[in-house]
Amino acid sequence: KRPAGAPDRALARPVTKVGVVGAGLMASQLALLFARRLEVPVVLTDLDQARLDKGVGYVHAEVDRLLAKGRIDGDKANRLKGLVTGSLTKDAFAGADLVIEAVFEDLKVKKQVFAEVEDVVGPECVLATNTSSLPITAMAADLRHPERVVGLHFFNPVAVLPLLEIVRGERTDDAALATAFAVGKALRKSSVLVKDAPAFVVNRLLVRLMGEVIGAVDEGTSIETADHALDGLGLPMTPFTLLQLVGPAVALHVAETLHEAFPDRFAVSANLAELVKAGKPGVYAADMTVDPEAREIFAGAGD
Ligand code: 3HC
Repeated sequence: KRPAGAPDRALARPVTKVGVVGAGLMASQLALLFARRLEVPVVLTDLDQARLDKGVGYVHAEVDRLLAKGRIDGDKANRLKGLVTGSLTKDAFAGADLVIEAVFEDLKVKKQVFAEVEDVVGPECVLATNTSSLPITAMAADLRHPERVVGLHFFNPVAVLPLLEIVRGERTDDAALATAFAVGKALRKSSVLVKDAPAFVVNRLLVRLMGEVIGAVDEGTSIETADHALDGLGLPMTPFTLLQLVGPAVALHVAETLHEAFPDRFAVSANLAELVKAGKPGVYAADMTVDPEAREIFAGAGD
């Protein structure tokens, strides 16, 4: 059955090569997923050699893990390692049918990335963004072919969570959208079409959940108490663990975007902003107890 809002499948274009911009954790997970499910070459690019090595290293380590678990055989493991390569320049995207960006959440940076990619790829290559909250329409606005831009919003951990938000910008055409749905199906995701609106649908809910729990801490409840208050509801992880997984900087960015769009509905925690400004990597230390430095920042902690 065709997902709601999906155009005719016949309009989808084949994807024989994929580019991934950025080599952070999200981008590396995407590179592996595309290689694993589409079995096509995937080129990962980053401006920094060390980040690139780390990204490709992550893919290789995950492939080894899947092999050790018996999820893939030795042939597939070798093929996957060969399919995912790293490059410092976007020229390596030549011939790609789909390029997805997962770089820093900054509209200007993402627009620049797409402009550079457009110089390398053909006019029919779909340009996708994994943005959590930025507008797809604005990202496409200055391109020669804005109709090829689409949002493909994945959720962490990418290999495990089935959800894929597909975002149609004002100028996205049916061919790009049909390709996005076909790719979602090949990746075995449950695709939903969402409007190009601040933080789309799912992050509004997740950020709201995390925001309300952080708000309780801001008001004086201890992190531990607030974090475990929902345990009985059977959520897969506690809100602060989710915050750790998403990354406080990303969570803050989505909260700020939503606050700007709907000031009466979304608050931004000053404590969360301070945690990010102080450059703290997360709220949990390696042993998953609350990091004492994060505890210091959150008012009312330690009751
Ligand atoms: N990468 C790859 N695989 C992973 C993984 C990761 N980071 N984390 C867990 N897995 C795999 C495990 O290997 C295991 O696979 P197996 O079945 O083959 O053995 C499977 O997932 C289950 O893992 P565990 O048994 O260790 O742990 P749990 O059952 O507790 O599940 C979880 C872990 C899937 C992370 C679960 O806690 C969960 O679903 N949490 C909610 C995550 C969530 O809400 N994410 C959304 C974040 S928002 C976002 O990304 C959007 C952005 O825009 C902000």
